[in-house]
Amino acid sequence: MIRTARELLEDARLNHYAIGAFNTSTLEITKGILKAAEELKTPVIIETSEGEANFEGYQVFVDTVRDIVMNMSVDIAINLDHGKSLESVKYAIDSGYSSVHIDCSKMDLASNTELTKQVVELAHAHKVSVEGELGYIGGSSEVHEGEQPKEEIVLTNPKEAAEYIKATGIDIFAGSYGNVHGIYKNEPTLDIERIKQISQSSGVPLSLHGGSGIPEDQIKAAIGAGICKINVNTEIRRAYREALDRALRGKNAEIIPYKYLPEAIEAVKEVVKKKITLFSK
Ligand code: 13P
Repeated sequence: MIRTARELLEDARLNHYAIGAFNTSTLEITKGILKAAEELKTPVIIETSEGEANFEGYQVFVDTVRDIVMNMSVDIAINLDHGKSLESVKYAIDSGYSSVHIDCSKMDLASNTELTKQVVELAHAHKVSVEGELGYIGGSSEVHEGEQPKEEIVLTNPKEAAEYIKATGIDIFAGSYGNVHGIYKNEPTLDIERIKQISQSSGVPLSLHGGSGIPEDQIKAAIGAGICKINVNTEIRRAYREALDRALRGKNAEIIPYKYLPEAIEAVKEVVKKKITLFSK
């Protein structure tokens, strides 16, 4: 059944585990993610950024997921990841997303609060849950040759986070606690104390973006400190690409997509299963 991300995360928060939020931009990645959820009988959040949704088609993506989920036994949330405007959020809601993330983290606190409030009003009127963000996470979901872009990261101030959550009425909070989007030469170091402080005063589930490349012990510590949603994209993209390379190597004459694409679906499924297991109790 399709549920809101907030509904899935309430159980995770009460029982101290995290739900994976996995990005997709192709049908094979979507299938890999949903197969992993079904095989492990664990709910997941499946999501697209605006760029991913523009490539795949908002409505095509939602209809595909809803169709597959009809024959599944676990609950799934469909989330817009890093929506940047009221227009794209509205488009996602009209297309049938069950959750939206509004990311105005580049704005000042007052403007971020104001736009987030407008999104909450619109989304809640449609029974769609909202993730808001404060602080700046930075990076991009790719494998980078260099070090993390430390200069662009702005860590979330716990006091401001509490004010922002109260003023906006969001359901889920995404913060900057040392996490960065993408995989870099150096590993991230999460500020576990900051996560704890925000968790204690927030009253809502906390989201950790940039889930790729974070060492497992830090993931466990973050969950222990109050994280209950973890976003993963880069590791999925890398597995998809490497599987396609493997499947096509030495087979220049192979032109039948359904002969070489299953390897990509399997590779995505394995990454997602590993993450689901790591995020579990
Ligand atoms: P990664 O690409 O680092 O896994 O981050 C994904 C993400 O946070 C999507 O919002």
